[in-house]
Amino acid sequence: MMKKAIYPGSFDPITNGHIDIIERAARLCDEVVVTLLPNTSKSPVFTVEERMDLIRDVIKKYPNVTVKIFSGLLVDFAAQENAQVIVKGLRAVSDFEYEFQMALMNRKLNQNIETMFLMTQSQNSYLSSSLVKEVARLKGCIKGLVPEVVEKALIKKYQHEKS
Ligand code: PNS
Repeated sequence: MMKKAIYPGSFDPITNGHIDIIERAARLCDEVVVTLLPNTSKSPVFTVEERMDLIRDVIKKYPNVTVKIFSGLLVDFAAQENAQVIVKGLRAVSDFEYEFQMALMNRKLNQNIETMFLMTQSQNSYLSSSLVKEVARLKGCIKGLVPEVVEKALIKKYQHEKS
């Protein structure tokens, strides 16, 4: 029985790779809560509100997907939401080691929550928020990598920066 899943990340910003995972998780689970964890060590380009607004815009077409913000232990949020599953996307072998470590740590913290990995589509396997930001900052083409609202937001962010 698979009911409610959380899909965590810093989403700075959300990309087509994230959306692919959200869409597929939403087909497998009754409910998916995209969970924005703002306090990661990376210094973000978009504010939490900007990131939330972009996610909201992108997920509005999926009736069983919502977005929430949370700071703290992921398993605590899952428990609080009565979610049984943490969904993660895997792009390449290089993702595996860190994801495996986090999945085992989360299982140690709460045995009732499973981490479920979905393999990326091959066309997204090289895609990451950091690379998209770098390309946008250097005025490269990011079409097809992020939704149009995100593309516009990125272009706006970097319009006054010299490449
Ligand atoms: O999009 P990101 O930055 O790769 O996402 C990383 C994230 C937010 C999923 C990860 O940092 C995380 O799970 N943070 C929650 C804090 C936590 O529970 N840590 C201990 C479990 S390993």
